[in-house]
Amino acid sequence: MSIAEGKNGAAGTVADSRLGIRSVGNKVTVVLGAQWGDEGKGKVVDLLAQDADIVCRCQGGNNAGHTVVVDSVEYDFHLLPSGIINPEVTAFIGNGVVIHLPGLFEEAEKNVSKGKGLEGWENRLIISDRAHIVFDFHQAVDGVQEQQRQQQAGKNLGTTKKGIGPVYSAKAARSGLRICDLLADFQEFSERFKVLALQYKTMYPTLEVDIDGELERLKVYVDRIKPMVRDGVYFLYEALHGPPKKILVEGANAALLDIDFGTYPFVTSSNCTVGGVCTGLGMPPQNVGEVYGVVKAYTTRVGIGAFPSEQDNDIGALLQTRGREVGVTTGRKRRCGWLDLVLLRYAHMINGFTAIALTKLDILDVFSEIKVGVAYKVNNEPIPHFPANQEVLHQVEVQYETLPGWNTDTSAARTFQDLPEEAQRYVRYVEERLQVPVKWIGVGKSRESMIQVF
Ligand code: GDP
Ligand code: IMO
Ligand code: MG
Repeated sequence: MSIAEGKNGAAGTVADSRLGIRSVGNKVTVVLGAQWGDEGKGKVVDLLAQDADIVCRCQGGNNAGHTVVVDSVEYDFHLLPSGIINPEVTAFIGNGVVIHLPGLFEEAEKNVSKGKGLEGWENRLIISDRAHIVFDFHQAVDGVQEQQRQQQAGKNLGTTKKGIGPVYSAKAARSGLRICDLLADFQEFSERFKVLALQYKTMYPTLEVDIDGELERLKVYVDRIKPMVRDGVYFLYEALHGPPKKILVEGANAALLDIDFGTYPFVTSSNCTVGGVCTGLGMPPQNVGEVYGVVKAYTTRVGIGAFPSEQDNDIGALLQTRGREVGVTTGRKRRCGWLDLVLLRYAHMINGFTAIALTKLDILDVFSEIKVGVAYKVNNEPIPHFPANQEVLHQVEVQYETLPGWNTDTSAARTFQDLPEEAQRYVRYVEERLQVPVKWIGVGKSRESMIQVF
């Protein structure tokens, strides 16, 4: 049979033998936030990174804040993949990530000073030459845009002011500068940097940009990052097609903050759902293996935007204090509410989770009953989908089911059977409703307090 005659993959088979095409290769395991961020991705990645070879970040910047607790030392990661804390791991920052170089080095140095885990990090970090650079003026513009939103529309987005919106805008406008530009001709880079800075000065006359000062600072980074920078596509291709390797992808931000699928405009500026893995690393979809959704046992949100199951009352306040729900990046209090299955089903439709890590179950230990949002109504009519429009989302009336609480401390549980019956029932309820198995259950901050169910 000729290639042209082939149907339903038959041509592929002929081509395989004739052209000697290799097998799909290694698969990557993906960890993604399923709600509005801060679900505990850092902790899940840390657990999976214990026997990983490579841990990648594919999108976002240092707007993310991932906490990892090892031997009672709390590390926080913003741009560096959390898995770097394992000395055997190579960390990879892909093309989809936006990098603020001073932020990257500050973060590494801060974590190095806390404990042993990050030793030799400079030799274990690979940076894609296609990643875009966040400049100080992007961060300043983020602040100015927030001020303008407040003045003009009476409300801002509540961004982290890390320059994320401005740098991804510059990327889309094709005026951004990348790591490969920084490492090429510095004179040429400086010219383009000046043009970009002046564009922003024109748009925002109050903006102060220290062009020469920032260029001088950037020049210092050239030699420091040169040994880390690679063609990211080729680096990953070799890793996928070399000897068996465990490759992890650490999602930043989360499904409901995704630029396409999140609660727009109260979102971040990258794709934090599964598609961002392929575009942010430069790899084919057939190399995506397990996709783990990280789900907090209740819901939180930092910043502004609709939040249907929010509990702006004593329940929310109790979740906030017990869960120590304060943003890692901005120090802002997180808004809290009950678990929302409508939102989670939506996140699953997009990401196709193969299993879930259900974190912070221990925070629910003191509730005598626990509510779970199961359906949305608008104008008294049930709606089957998650609304795109923010005004509609603000109007939804959440239908809840009430489950019995367990009023027992679960923090010492290490197996599923150690959990009180009602807590087991809560976990089973979530997996049945979502039709996704719960593989891990978090009952505390430390590495040990993660129950592996199967
Ligand atoms: P990420 O952005 O998704 O990595 O999550 P963050 O690190 O921003 O926020 C999660 C917070 O919850 C951190 O302070 C973690 O140490 C903590 N945490 C994670 N899992 C658990 C858990 O199962 N129980 C408790 N009590 N805390 C947890
Ligand atoms: P991790 O990875 C929680 C939110 C901000 C703001 C909106 C836009 O720790 O889960 P940006 O600075 O990205 O332009 O802000 O997105 N946000 C997050 N909230 N966790 C995060 O990351 C977030 N990353 C962005 O609070 O509402
Ligand atoms: Mg976080």
